[in-house]
Amino acid sequence: MSSFDNSTAGQESQSAGSAQPLVRHELLLCVTGGVACYKSADLASKLTQGGASVTVAMTENACRFVAPLTFQAVTRNRVFTDLWPDVQDHDSGHISLTERADLMIIAPATANMLGKIARGIADDLVSTMAMSAAGACEMLVAPAMNTRMWNSPALQDNIKTLDARGVRFIGPNDGPLACGTTGPGRMAEPHEIVSAIISILDQTTPKPDQT
Ligand SMILES: Cc1cc2nc3c(=O)[nH]c(=O)nc-3n(C[C@H](O)[C@H](O)[C@H](O)COP(=O)(O)O)c2cc1C
Repeated sequence: MSSFDNSTAGQESQSAGSAQPLVRHELLLCVTGGVACYKSADLASKLTQGGASVTVAMTENACRFVAPLTFQAVTRNRVFTDLWPDVQDHDSGHISLTERADLMIIAPATANMLGKIARGIADDLVSTMAMSAAGACEMLVAPAMNTRMWNSPALQDNIKTLDARGVRFIGPNDGPLACGTTGPGRMAEPHEIVSAIISILDQTTPKPDQT
């Protein structure tokens, strides 16, 4: 699996080539419905403070865990929660946002969303964006779920499929989980995800400024 070594993640961000490696990068942060959503608000904040322009898209279930307003406040950008745009927009967000983005990040990535993306299901904003990201931008995924879900044959098959397609993974980490158990399934920490993002951006040709 194309994953990042979390043990060196902190050092990576300190040694990254540019002093401000996130500046002028367009990041599309997709948030799906798991308990780790609360950590994604911190991730969005860290990326914004690092100088990236962060656009957040959330599934309906993610909105049950954290309000879109939280992400809007920390990124100072509109948050997308609906595949069906306002008619005034004249814009298909699921296409234009992935075209603009240097990197699409899904954090947390639920078992459900990983299954949809692996099997080519595009029935909501995030899964449709994931499909339209092919050939448009790289994708980094931070899975988060209960250990039995993570170890399930269906989920592991889906991970293998996505890995073979070049999707990058960070985590999950081993540790205490919201369900009260301890084991693999904990979402990588925001600073580890930031380091992974910087490392991918380092190897990616930036898109022309579209502002
Ligand atoms: C309290 C609670 C916590 C959940 N945590 C997770 C989780 O950490 N990971 C996961 O894959 N699913 C989790 N689920 C299940 C997902 O929310 C569910 O599969 C949902 O359909 C995911 O929708 P989405 O992928 O469209 O966001 C949780 C559900 C509940 C009620």
